[in-house]
Amino acid sequence: MRVAVISAEAVPYSKTGGLGDVAGALPKALKQVGVDAFLITPCYWQTKGEYLWHTAVDDLWVTWKGSALRIKAFYSEANGSPAFLLDHPALFHRDSIYGYREDHERFAFFNHAALELVKRLGGAPDIVHLNDWHCGFAAVELASRRRSDPYWRNTRTVFSIHNMAYQGGFGMGDLSSLGFTSEFARNAFSFNGYASAMKAGLEVSDTLSTVSKRYSYEIQTSENGYGLDWLTRRRASRLIGITNGVDYEVWDPETDPELPAHFSIDDLSGKTECKRALLERFHLPIELGRPIFASVTRLTSQKGVELIRQGAGDILAAGGFFIALGSGEKDSENFLQALRDHAPSRVGVYIGYNESLAHLIEAGADVFLMPSKFEPCGLNQMYSLRYGTVPIVRAVGGLDDTVENWNILTGRGNGFKFGPYQADKLLEKIYEARFAFEDKESWSKIQRNGMAVDNSWENAARNYIELYEWTLR
Ligand code: ADP
Ligand code: GLC
Repeated sequence: MRVAVISAEAVPYSKTGGLGDVAGALPKALKQVGVDAFLITPCYWQTKGEYLWHTAVDDLWVTWKGSALRIKAFYSEANGSPAFLLDHPALFHRDSIYGYREDHERFAFFNHAALELVKRLGGAPDIVHLNDWHCGFAAVELASRRRSDPYWRNTRTVFSIHNMAYQGGFGMGDLSSLGFTSEFARNAFSFNGYASAMKAGLEVSDTLSTVSKRYSYEIQTSENGYGLDWLTRRRASRLIGITNGVDYEVWDPETDPELPAHFSIDDLSGKTECKRALLERFHLPIELGRPIFASVTRLTSQKGVELIRQGAGDILAAGGFFIALGSGEKDSENFLQALRDHAPSRVGVYIGYNESLAHLIEAGADVFLMPSKFEPCGLNQMYSLRYGTVPIVRAVGGLDDTVENWNILTGRGNGFKFGPYQADKLLEKIYEARFAFEDKESWSKIQRNGMAVDNSWENAARNYIELYEWTLR
């Protein structure tokens, strides 16, 4: 089976969040179970030169807005499977990966060029696997081309929803300049008077998936469907949930090159060294008996930052350290800085994006906070489980599917989980965790229960193969 995975970001070439982790790991995992998979992603200014192995194609002619453009694609296997990075400096060499008024044009172009590249590479793929709104354009283009171009006739599309909250909206008036002039295309994009790339992807792709089972149901409700729940309900018989995997080649405390000491389920002593290094890193007193509560996140309302803000004082009152790494909404950034200024011997804050620090925090912290308002899958709670860092999560989306609440009577469970989106519910769990931390036997059991969980990509890749086979049928 030949599968082209198309994504706006993919590790190690680019990453702003979990989509990057997933799109980087999935083609590699597919390849390991025998699928002829390759990735197509943009080459950004942020993409490190060392990953661009050689030029695969330097004369890809793409018709765009009425003229023919000649562009390049680099080749790499830095993510463990073949990857092609499309290069268009004016569109992709920018200060940040997203956040421009013309993002819809940037990704429409990327999609169009990606399909041209696939064709140029030779054999038609059986499946084109599209991810999030950035790839809604290719879903429509492929659905149209399939009727007129024999090359695409047998190719099918899978569209994965990583986050329903971002839909890539723009004015219907822009559609024709992006090459979408047919009535079919206009209908696909049209949503409440404007154009939505997410809606188009959901509407015309052959099958749909989301990144956890629970989220696949949640997006069929008005609360989490962001106006498109009618469409996910309509297409429910073609929608499934597949929980993301963890790339244990990148996230494994036994081998992680970012850590000062290594550890495993059989010997956790290296974790104490990581805790010490983490406290030193933030110039906090080396008080190893105090639990470190940590958070690594985009600072947006999705992640439950509001609850953390309300709960932070209690973490300190309960005798814990609080360490946060994140960037995003200014308000939350300011709050974290102020909290640090208020309690500099208990709070460590890093505002920004720092991959290596994210690894050290996963390894050195005791408790990981993820009280998300909604969470399609979430990767950090799975990284935490593997690193013996006990997650406190809200029971939504992938968090609910991957974390089991600790039960002292049965000795089962690998974290702490609460339901209602309320600060006092988070606090209850913070105190439960604080209490359990003092009982060394219980704590060690919770940690080991989490470390024993297998969230490897191999399982997820097999589920994707089933989805591809189903799609082809
Ligand atoms: P989302 O994609 O919604 O942000 P996920 O939990 O799926 O949430 O994935 C987030 C990914 O981004 C994780 O790999 C996490 O470590 C990383 N991450 C988030 N914020 C930062 C940050 N400030 N610095 C480094 N890594 C970060
Ligand atoms: C999105 C979601 C996150 C998920 C990630 C990868 O960014 O917010 O929950 O883990 O995509 O699928």
